Amino acid sequence: MPTVPPGLLADQHGRVATDLRVSLTDRCNLRCQYCMPAEGLNWMASEETLTDDEVVRLLSIAVQRLGVRQIRFTGGEPLLRRGLVDIVTRTAALKPRPRIAMTSNGLGLTRSAPALARAGMDRVNISLDTVRGDSFEAITRRARLQDVVDGVAAAHAAGMTPVKINAVLLRGINDGEAPELLRWCLEHGYQLRFIEQMPLDAQHGWHREAMVTAEEIFASLAGEFDLTEASRPRGSAPAEEFLVNGGPATVGVIASVTRPFCGDCDRTRLTADGQVRNCLFARQESDLRSLLREGRADDATIAAAWQTAMWGKLPGHGINDPGFLQPTRPMSSIGG
Ligand code: 5AD
Ligand code: SF4
Repeated sequence: MPTVPPGLLADQHGRVATDLRVSLTDRCNLRCQYCMPAEGLNWMASEETLTDDEVVRLLSIAVQRLGVRQIRFTGGEPLLRRGLVDIVTRTAALKPRPRIAMTSNGLGLTRSAPALARAGMDRVNISLDTVRGDSFEAITRRARLQDVVDGVAAAHAAGMTPVKINAVLLRGINDGEAPELLRWCLEHGYQLRFIEQMPLDAQHGWHREAMVTAEEIFASLAGEFDLTEASRPRGSAPAEEFLVNGGPATVGVIASVTRPFCGDCDRTRLTADGQVRNCLFARQESDLRSLLREGRADDATIAAAWQTAMWGKLPGHGINDPGFLQPTRPMSSIGG
């Protein structure tokens, strides 16, 4: 068996992870149906959660020893993490400076966007599945559409651009709203991407038949827009990009289920309790928190443990295999 190449998060299938997604909390102030049950979940205890110092130490190991070039903060909802601005400031001070992004539901961004931008947050992706109040409430179980819309505008105004909007379509709720959402994003200068619903909800309520597929999304958009494949190569980006009415505006579709892109994956993930996940759908994790807290492990030892965790990454997520088993950890504590 070949040995793990030094200084990289490589696996046995030729992929190298340079994009680190860090979940900073499993809590959220929305209850999106495709993610959480109405009553929420048993949140992670605070002593289980990595401290700001522990997070920053792991980020510095990733950047300085493992070739990570992009860091994306996720949740649950990352804006609920008290130390977020400070963590971003310290991340931006790492050498070489990584690109810094966040995936957020947008609640609270009207307040925090300027400070985040100043701290070094380069870009944000905001989850917004609809611009209709009734659909928003049906999906997220909260009447907060206007707050999210204002949050998106605040991120844009603060220069964390391009602002990307992530939308999931749910059958019978917002599956007819793709053109309307695209129109709204074009009007405001936001980049829209649709994501096929994945089996990652805590309640295990995902059904293939209920999933709105990329194919259906194209068909629905084609009724109103002329879509042509963007010539730029997709690389490791999960979204397939299309020019809208000849461009320059684009729309993306992330077809994780019907057109998996695992072969080009460049991602590694860290949970809020310090576990490395080598895939969104991994059924095993590697515990870096114990290494941190035992106090004996130096940076080189932690880096080696992370490399070992990535080396064992499976070639694909297996959603379409008959024996597929959903991971035990739900999306809200992995972070997308
Ligand atoms: N399937 C697809 N996307 C999901 N998200 C959350 N849960 C799911 C799911 N089951 C989206 C969120 C957010 C990003 C992290 O992933 O809307 O934009
Ligand atoms: Fe919160 Fe995101 Fe889950 Fe919605 S998808 S409940 S915004 S963590």
